[in-house]
Amino acid sequence: MTIIVTGGAGFIGSNFIFYMLKNHPKDRIVCLDKLTYAGNLSTLAPVMEHPNFRFVKADICDREAVCRLFEEEHPDMVVNFAAESHVDRSIENPGIFLQTNIMGTAVLMDACRSYGIIRYHQVSTDEVYGDLPLDRPDLFFTEETPLHTSSPYSSSKAAADLLVLSYQRTYGLPVTISRCSNNYGPYHFPEKLIPLMIINCLKEKPMPVYGEGLNVRDWLYVEDHCRAIDLILHHGREGEVYNIGGHNEMRNIDIVRLICKELGKPESLITHVADRKGHDMRYAINPEKISGELGWVPETKFADGLRKTIHWYLDHREWWEEIVSGAYQEYYETMYGNR
Ligand code: NAD
Ligand code: DAU
Repeated sequence: MTIIVTGGAGFIGSNFIFYMLKNHPKDRIVCLDKLTYAGNLSTLAPVMEHPNFRFVKADICDREAVCRLFEEEHPDMVVNFAAESHVDRSIENPGIFLQTNIMGTAVLMDACRSYGIIRYHQVSTDEVYGDLPLDRPDLFFTEETPLHTSSPYSSSKAAADLLVLSYQRTYGLPVTISRCSNNYGPYHFPEKLIPLMIINCLKEKPMPVYGEGLNVRDWLYVEDHCRAIDLILHHGREGEVYNIGGHNEMRNIDIVRLICKELGKPESLITHVADRKGHDMRYAINPEKISGELGWVPETKFADGLRKTIHWYLDHREWWEEIVSGAYQEYYETMYGNR
């Protein structure tokens, strides 16, 4: 089996590549990644020489490059992680989100139609469902929850999901979609909540919590997400959407406090800053479909996963120090300088 993994130099895609090479040693994994600011080739260094791995630098929107790769590799499956993924950046500059997340998805699926494929899998997000109120803890996102997006990012992901389902109905493309909650773990880009707070805490810099920090996210250790996608690829039903989440709801402020505690730093580092525009209050996944149909359950408890993650950042300073010393500084100043 040859599997093209797009966006494999990013956070979840790289973890998925490591997971697949370990758990499916006979499969060939071809990573297609544009290496945007979020993609790091150093992340893939441990597998670059692996006989069943190939890295190709290309844009999923580049039809010619995508078709060339299909001609060379004759993939059996495509798993599309490639995306612009940060909500705050989408608020500043929506255009690239529409281009990559929607048009790029169309290009990949057109190639799948032309060359034939046994599965196209779209990695989507729980954000396509919008948010839930804090005072209704009985409510969860199911696969039937209407799409109701809040940000240019989530809107672009929802548009891509609709496109994927339309290719299944119109052209019979064998697709699946997964909608996962917030991931955390190794190689998470420092712009996102958990790595940003770990790094700032380590450097004893202010830890910028948006608003009161009462927003709730449903956190899942990245390896549990990778295992869920693997199950969907091999056992999921064509044309189906699967929600992925582990009933692990946490308020932002509580996570930030836990990070201070684990690193032995004072909570006085926590700074409340202006809220995100259109900020979603609560995400919470009902995972009954994937657990009932495919037997998936999360294996990593949040306390263990967070500790592991913090220690990963302590042990891999060279990985994130290289990132935060470059163009990231400019980004940080723009987003947080006068906040
Ligand atoms: P990320 O930002 O860490 O990585 C994205 C990767 O895609 C990078 O390697 C980047 O170089 C690559 N990329 C971007 N544009 C590209 C293009 N035009 N062509 C080829 N490659 C391109 O993202 P992530 O957090 O790993 O998320 C991966 C996927 O999972 C995304 O589709 C995201 O919507 C989805 N998702 C993320 C989370 C989460 O918590 N991080 C949760 C649910 C779903
Ligand atoms: O739910 C899945 C989604 O999770 C994915 O689709 C997205 O790609 C991924 O980025 C993530 O989106 P969020 O917006 O939930 O993640 P982020 O880490 O940006 O923020 C998590 C929460 O923390 C959110 O309520 C905003 C808040 N926050 C974030 C940052 C970066 C802060 O309070 N301060 C910060 O500096």
